[in-house]
Amino acid sequence: MRLLRRAGQGVNKGLLITDVRLVDERSDFRGDLYIKGGLIRAVGVNLRIPGANVLSGEGRTLLPAFVDLHAHFRDPGYPEKEGIGSGSAAAVHGGYTTVAVMANTAPVCDRPEVALYMRVEAEKAGLIELYAMGAITRGLAGEELSDMEALAPHVWAFSDDGFGVQRTDMILRAFQRAATLGRPIAEHSEYLGIDDPALAEELMVNRDTFLSRRIGAALHVEHVSSAGSVKLIAAAKRAGTRVTCEVTPHHLCLEPGYTVNPPLVTEKTRDRLIVALASGEIDAVATDHAPHTAVDKNRGAPGISGIETAFSLLYTQLVRSGRLDLPTLVRAMATRPAQILGLNKGSLGIGRDGDVVLVEEGEEFTVTTDWLLSRGKNTPLLGERLRGRVWATVHRGEVVYLDGKLRGKVVG
Ligand code: NCD
Repeated sequence: MRLLRRAGQGVNKGLLITDVRLVDERSDFRGDLYIKGGLIRAVGVNLRIPGANVLSGEGRTLLPAFVDLHAHFRDPGYPEKEGIGSGSAAAVHGGYTTVAVMANTAPVCDRPEVALYMRVEAEKAGLIELYAMGAITRGLAGEELSDMEALAPHVWAFSDDGFGVQRTDMILRAFQRAATLGRPIAEHSEYLGIDDPALAEELMVNRDTFLSRRIGAALHVEHVSSAGSVKLIAAAKRAGTRVTCEVTPHHLCLEPGYTVNPPLVTEKTRDRLIVALASGEIDAVATDHAPHTAVDKNRGAPGISGIETAFSLLYTQLVRSGRLDLPTLVRAMATRPAQILGLNKGSLGIGRDGDVVLVEEGEEFTVTTDWLLSRGKNTPLLGERLRGRVWATVHRGEVVYLDGKLRGKVVG
């Protein structure tokens, strides 16, 4: 892979992106956008900024860069599956500049040192902003709360992702502490030992929406995969509960036949999830990027390496087919996740962070193992042709990915 040179891209003179279709949750028009000092400074038609670095968009589509609320970068512990550098590279290849990473590393992110390590490694790679999730329970074992007070300054939310918190007394105390600390509980909703995955999910969503409202702590429901969960969450929202939720691209788009947690769902459920995403009942798309080695995958490890294909898959299947419009997809992939994380991102408004992505709507490409920058090649999309290719990703005014090339030398 060729590398972009840093020189000449100085943030000082700013970056002028010309001749693009600008789309965000609220607007859709043709023009230019100017970023300086890391922020969007001007949006308009025929902008002239003397001395600015110019990136000619040549008619491509400019969107706010995507924000992923749920990914697994595997470092510390399993760098053969993914490193923070390779995960960051995969993220910008997929149009993401912000990624929340889960705590199921080794050691588990149940203490501040692990969150700090992840943050420092992401800063070294220099491509994205990484937000760590802190474990709810020590070692994700479900038996003892982690030191949530110590973790809180270093994490955006608490999650035992990979496992639902099985014990009611444990999650009750976690909600109480999370309320005091002002951090959400992000739940992998799954009661173990129940054969029906929808029921296993709904039972826990029911418990957690109740407790969230009762305790007054924010709840984020991860990877919703049942129509019943959507109903419970919508009812909780109507009742004033501070609850948000996410759905993955694979639960929206892929037929059963690939091992992932929660399992892929029927067409009827996918249709219901798509309608809920369009209506806003489901707040966000999150990738649950779960890279694995071929050996682990062959042994049955659940998960899909999905951060690079998320936009193109959703664009191809849902936008081009007319089931979702592009501003709604932007809301789900950028605007709402940025709001949930509390970031100044997710729209093309003046004063927002200069995090944008340029996509080629009509461009068709094939997903191959070589095309994926993630170490995890575990995706059922290998060999598939998708449209909506990510052409460039800009983070705070710096072009971190451009047409097959990454900024800097990314290792790890
Ligand atoms: C996740 C992983 O690999 O870390 N896999 C997945 O299928 N979502 C963990 C999990 O939720 O099982």
